[in-house]
Amino acid sequence: MRQNVFAGNWKMNLNIKDGVELVNQLKDLKTDDGVIVCTPFTMLDAVTKAAKGSQVKVGAQNMHFEEKGAFTGEVSADMLLELGVEYVIIGHSERRAYFAETDETVNKKVLYAIEKGLVPIICVGESLEQREAGTALDVVNAQVKAALLGVKAGDKFLIAYEPIWAIGTGKTATPEQAGEIITAIRAVVKELLGDYADEVSLLYGGSMNGGNVKELMEQKDIDGGLIGGASLSFEKFSQLYNY
Ligand code: PGA
Repeated sequence: MRQNVFAGNWKMNLNIKDGVELVNQLKDLKTDDGVIVCTPFTMLDAVTKAAKGSQVKVGAQNMHFEEKGAFTGEVSADMLLELGVEYVIIGHSERRAYFAETDETVNKKVLYAIEKGLVPIICVGESLEQREAGTALDVVNAQVKAALLGVKAGDKFLIAYEPIWAIGTGKTATPEQAGEIITAIRAVVKELLGDYADEVSLLYGGSMNGGNVKELMEQKDIDGGLIGGASLSFEKFSQLYNY
């Protein structure tokens, strides 16, 4: 059975001291749900050390799809693995919008992460214009298909549906809007990977917090969240668990 997971996406926030303190608090949280924190590269060493042997798993927010080489400013899968990192966010809409990530680079990164034994948290989601034009479902389905090209049943990955208009805006998708798209994502994964789709955790992201988690989690295909703003303090992040 698939697990409920709440993954914090710290983006470009916090510092080593605050990050370690937050992880230390999360270690003692009473929950059966997956606890993941995706931190800036500079904190991964300290945070993986703090999280070692605990329920807290650590993710990066990006990685390159090549093994090594002349890619100034980039970080490889091996570098993440060396630190004990287990997850990596791939194709976040901020990376697609500001750092030229495309469906093609997302797919290369997803395949390479899986090959190396990292679990990609694959982000998809439509813009406000696309939602208003009625194409949200088509856009997201196409992103999912492109990201999963070459992925096989049994490969470990998560998908986070994050409508761009809901990220950091305080505007959450309604549970019905989120549920509709995430159920459609599961259908696409089923089309590609058969019944293995029922084992894949599908997350919602976009202003998710302690106040709206319950109604979102009531949607049958939503298995947790990718949380930005509300993951930056223990007080807020812990409200996501045991909702
Ligand atoms: P938010 O960010 O929770 O601050 O909206 C979510 C995300 O971008 O992953």
